Amino acid sequence: MDILVVGGGGREHAIIRKLKESQYCGKLYCAPGNGGISCDAQCFDVKADDIDGMVALAKELKVDLVFVAPDDPLSAGMVDAMEKEGIAAFGPRANAAVIEGSKVFAKRLMKKYNIPTADYEVFDKPEEALRYIRRRGRYSVVVKADGLALGKGVSLCGDYYEAKAAVKNIMVDRVFGKSGDRVVIEEFLTGPEVSVLAFTDGKTIYPMVSSMDHKRVFDGNLGPNTGGMGAISPNPYYDAKTAEFCMEKIFVPTIEAMRAEGRPFKGCLYFGLMITADGPKVIEYNSRFGDPETQVVLPLLKTDFIEIITAIIEERLDEISVEWSDEACACVVLASGGYPGEYKKGKKIEGLDAGGQVKGAVVYHAGTRLVDGEFYTNGGRVLGVTAKADTLDTAVDRAYKAVHRIDFDDLHYRRDIGKIPV
Ligand code: AMP
Ligand code: GLY
Repeated sequence: MDILVVGGGGREHAIIRKLKESQYCGKLYCAPGNGGISCDAQCFDVKADDIDGMVALAKELKVDLVFVAPDDPLSAGMVDAMEKEGIAAFGPRANAAVIEGSKVFAKRLMKKYNIPTADYEVFDKPEEALRYIRRRGRYSVVVKADGLALGKGVSLCGDYYEAKAAVKNIMVDRVFGKSGDRVVIEEFLTGPEVSVLAFTDGKTIYPMVSSMDHKRVFDGNLGPNTGGMGAISPNPYYDAKTAEFCMEKIFVPTIEAMRAEGRPFKGCLYFGLMITADGPKVIEYNSRFGDPETQVVLPLLKTDFIEIITAIIEERLDEISVEWSDEACACVVLASGGYPGEYKKGKKIEGLDAGGQVKGAVVYHAGTRLVDGEFYTNGGRVLGVTAKADTLDTAVDRAYKAVHRIDFDDLHYRRDIGKIPV
């Protein structure tokens, strides 16, 4: 099968590497891709959210399948647009991608179908939101913009004044535009976080191995939130009992709820969970593979990836079984200094080959450019240095061993990936 992958980050690189292992894999294309991806797939300069451009490219290349990885094109209906042209596409249609695209939708779904999540209220007027927060007094709340906000729409607020500033930011200053028409104000939960990605064709759901993201930019979970500074799999907090509870009370009820609402979800559904003293609760849904979780989860997949994707598209996931390695995997993100704020691009990257030669290691490219055979930084998150091993400790050691062979100017990474309770 000739496949076009939409996107251009570390997640897409990991997806492409896994597709390449499949016995069914033909030509691989990616748009827009990046420097590292261009060594594994032919890249085209079409933006990930350019639906018309992507449909035209898929037709021109006569691909058998389009794999839509990022949230924006999914929410905007890229899968629907491909299907309309008779092109098979992996990912949810827009009416199901709304589970990520609207937090209000997700919260109402969970309330209606008794899926455990934080208590919440929805507001479309800032005065009412503020009145509600004031009534709650000094208690902490979480303020979330309804729509997509590049992962920046969530504010954890310790008191009324922080919450007031968050509401103003979203609803009055409208820094996220229309995504801030409504806010969700939510109970502040505590406990370790677990990411579980799941394959689903809308009827059958197979959770993948669990993982853990590391969202803050600095060691010890300090500093601002990022797209993710590293990940490990499996997640040490996700034991068999928790997995059983989640399957019964969260995963199956969610896909059944989506089907009952006339929005069957086909693709990869991401459950962001918090293991609270009251049991696991859903923090968020994503309608896609997570980044950087994908970089640690897919390397552990033993079943042919294209076989799974095809079974999902053809809605016969129940006919196959999905096998996982019982190894562990760790990914350390190398970022440009300054990220997630301002940073410089165009720094020459040294040591990539040496890094990739560490036993069990593979370097996924997130933001790189290839010019005359040399790689240069081209984004905030630059590389995802990943390693597999029999145990998590060894995987982490191997990933850092590879990290220490790679260098560019003003490089920043966390030194505690997989090493502390997050
Ligand atoms: P998101 O941008 O939706 O991925 O959320 C960012 C982070 O905010 C999550 O990973 C959690 O760490 C945190 N968060 C979101 N909702 C809550 C909540 N209700 N209580 C505590 N932390 C939360
Ligand atoms: N790692 C979190 C996400 O992909 O949204």
